[in-house]
This record gives sequence, C-alpha cells and structure tokens, in this order.
Amino acid sequence: MLLEARELTKRYGEQTVVDAVSFDLEAGDALALIGPSGCGKTTTLKMINRLVEPDAGEVRLGGRSARQTPAHEWRRRIGYVIQSSGLFPHRSVAENISVTPHLLGWEKRRIAAKVEALLDMVGLDPADYADRAPADLSGGQRQRVGLARALAGEPDLLLMDEPFAALDPVTKDALIEDIIRLRERLKFAAVIVTHDFSEALRLAGRVAVMDGGRIAQIGPVCELIAAPATDTVRALLDAPRRTARAVASAFAGSLEGPTAVSTLGAGQGAGVGARLGAGE
Ligand SMILES: Nc1ncnc2c1ncn2[C@@H]1O[C@H](COP(=O)(O)OP(=O)(O)OP(=O)(O)O)[C@@H](O)[C@H]1O
Ligand SMILES: [Mg+2]
Repeated sequence: MLLEARELTKRYGEQTVVDAVSFDLEAGDALALIGPSGCGKTTTLKMINRLVEPDAGEVRLGGRSARQTPAHEWRRRIGYVIQSSGLFPHRSVAENISVTPHLLGWEKRRIAAKVEALLDMVGLDPADYADRAPADLSGGQRQRVGLARALAGEPDLLLMDEPFAALDPVTKDALIEDIIRLRERLKFAAVIVTHDFSEALRLAGRVAVMDGGRIAQIGPVCELIAAPATDTVRALLDAPRRTARAVASAFAGSLEGPTAVSTLGAGQGAGVGARLGAGE
C-alpha cells in the first residue's frame, strides 16, 4: 500500500474540521476528494503532506509512518499542486521546476534534462518558456508549470487541490488530458480535490465524498451513483446528472472521439469510470 490515512483528525478550537478520516491508496492509483466548501478537503491534503500536523491518527507512506520520517524527506516524495499554482514570482519557470531536484542534490545536467522533459510533457516549448517569469504566463500555463514543478522530484504521490478551479473549460479540458497522459507515463498515484464529478470521473478510479469533516462515502463513482449513502452524496450527484442529461441530449448522435467521456450521461460515464478504475 502506498498511502494509508488512519483516523486522521484535526481540531481548531472547539471545531473538529477533519474527523477520523481513513482511506488507502495503492501505488499508481487515484482518488478524488469531493465535498461542500469547508468540509475539510484541503486540511486532509495538508495532513498528508504534513503542512498541517494531525491532532490524532496517522499517515503512512510506503509503510513508513510520518512520525518516523523527517518532514523534509517526507515532502520530497509528495508533489503538491494548488489552485493558484504557488510559483515563486521572482524565479524563472526553469528555476521553479528545479526546486525539488536541487534539494535532492541532483547534478546540474540531470536537472536541466528534467526541466526540459517536463516542460515538453506539459505542452510548453522549453526554448520559449524556460526563462520566463511566472508573471509572463497565462493562468493555464502557470498551472502547467506548477504541475511540472510538483512532478520534478519524481514523487510517488501527487496531491492536487482544485488545480483547475481558475481555468476556462477548454484550458481545463486540455490540462486534464495532460494529467491523464502523465499518469499513464509516470505512474504516480494521486489525490485530487475537485468540486466537479466529471473531473473526478476522468481523473480517478475512486471518489471519497467528505461532509462535515468525515468521509460520507468512498468507492468507484458508479457505486456512488447506484447507491448514494447519504443525502449529501445524493445532492452532489444531482447537479452533474442534470448537466449530463442536458449535454447528452444536445450532443445526441455526436458522442465519439477521445473527448466523448466528459459528454456522456451520468450512467454511461460511470461505466467508463468504472472501467478506467478497474485498470488502475
Ligand atoms: N488554520 C486554521 N485555523 C482555524 N480554522 C481553520 C484553519 N484552516 C482551516 N480551518 C477551518 O477548517 C474547516 C475546513 O477547511 P478546509 O480548508 O479544509 O475546507 P475545504 O473542504 O478545503 O473547503 P473549500 O472547498 O472551500 O476549499 C473550515 O471551516 C475552515 O474555516
Ligand atoms: Mg480547500
């Protein structure tokens, strides 16, 4: 097992914002974390990479407990992508991507090759982008660089916190396809926080719905659709179901090609998700 979260709990004052959250993730597997604003998704991710210390429970990575591992060593095995990309504004694109390889003590030549390969993989021409400042990029390009930076240390696990929230639908779609390809190629596991079931379907085999700091239900999307465990899960599925119906009727007869998954009806999409999930 790559990642084991056991009874993770975080309190702020009187409020328990994450309450005994447990889940497992196999190497190369992906889990989407969905739930209403304030339900504890970001806090859960931050406990996994130890930006936030849990009050109770523990995280294990590759069988080792966080308590037995120095924090800097732990974090280098985990890539982290956030909504606003979080790039260092005064460093170039190449320097931003090099941060973790530098900390790992890689040779200059290996770092340069890595930067170039990753920029290629996220669809940015190294000759054009390597020396630019983050301010001279579009939001979508910044997210791509953030993704390249998170993968530069060849992590076993990538944490993504609403990585597409600020992007237009076309840019978002392209980035989702890039992440799917990168995962096929580099085989890293991922936990992805999203508000969107269609993103979850495309990116992850399993979904965990959080509500009030707890996991309301965890499993393949098709299982959630077939038997939602709580009213929150049911409500979260209603919006994508309505969207899927509208999209399916508008696109009737033209559902083909590589982009078809996102335009399928909820039931059909779930089948595809299950097949993708089964392959993980
Ligand atoms: N440092 C902190 N001090 C006090 N309360 C906090 C702190 N960080 C988070 N919280 C509270 O914990 C709860 C969970 O926050 P968290 O950021 O994990 O939610 P989230 O599910 O990521 O929400 P969103 O979808 O809006 O990003 C919220 O009520 C938030 O106000
Ligand atoms: Mg959040």
